[in-house]
Amino acid sequence: MSDDGPMHAQSQEAGHELSDSGISGRSTTDGPQDAPEQKHHHRRVSSFRNRRSTLSGTQQELWERRWPEIGAEARDAAGRPLTRDIAQWFGRRAPVVLEIGCGTGVSTLAMAVEEPHLDVVAVEVYRRGLAQLLGAIDRNDVTNIRLIRGDGVDVLEHIFGTASLTGVRIFFPDPWPKARHHKRRLLQPETVALIADRLVPGGVLHAATDHAEYAEHIAEVGDAEPRLRRVADTAAGALPISVRRPETKYEGKGLQAGRDIAELVWVRTHGMTE
Ligand SMILES: C[S@@+](CC[C@H](N)C(=O)[O-])C[C@H]1O[C@@H](n2cnc3c(N)ncnc32)[C@H](O)[C@@H]1O
Repeated sequence: MSDDGPMHAQSQEAGHELSDSGISGRSTTDGPQDAPEQKHHHRRVSSFRNRRSTLSGTQQELWERRWPEIGAEARDAAGRPLTRDIAQWFGRRAPVVLEIGCGTGVSTLAMAVEEPHLDVVAVEVYRRGLAQLLGAIDRNDVTNIRLIRGDGVDVLEHIFGTASLTGVRIFFPDPWPKARHHKRRLLQPETVALIADRLVPGGVLHAATDHAEYAEHIAEVGDAEPRLRRVADTAAGALPISVRRPETKYEGKGLQAGRDIAELVWVRTHGMTE
């Protein structure tokens, strides 16, 4: 349905500031192995690398045509967070799923097409990935996806309120394997607490990773959040969103390398601390 894009070529593309990201104060880095730890301007350290993000002529044309309608920057040029009425943006009131770090959007597109009753907001810092997803949305006439360019934690903090999301999806977050980089991992207690706050009771947090040690970390952090309850058998109970994912190129590489994929699913409990 769409290209899988250059997610496998991430490190080759590292080392270039995204000049039009609307996100200031970021370092230029060479990927998770070598990235210096720099303070984010509005939260601790960033969980992402900065990558070259030049669009092809066709992508640029499409960007100019479709982005103003279905895309938005998480922050404006002055650094002010986006304010947006999500229902108005989609033109309807439907359960909302937020995907953080959608890459080129292979899962985003396939899952949104499978679940037309849900509205999906996909967040990514990588403009070329978003451009690929934009192309696939355009070609397939998909109406239930909106895109935000920026930091997913920023989006959780500023765009969504308490109990506003039916699902949060985080597929193959950068594992930041070196111990000194662990603090850059997206899934930390404070992010998981923020997600728990943003989920409606019964809402789902779905994470997937092919990095065994990060999987353990995510499991620990999720299990320690009192407002989340782990779903061991995702086939057993009725969940408000699907947890069936298509295999992406990134995931395929992990599988080829013999790595197991961990699927981690929690639901938001109904009380504050039950
Ligand atoms: C390893 S890739 C996986 C992409 C995609 N989910 C997949 O399964 O193919 C991780 C992606 O998360 C993005 N990312 C990391 N931290 C992020 C954040 N805080 N907000 C938005 N995107 C983020 C990166 O730019 C990268 O594209």
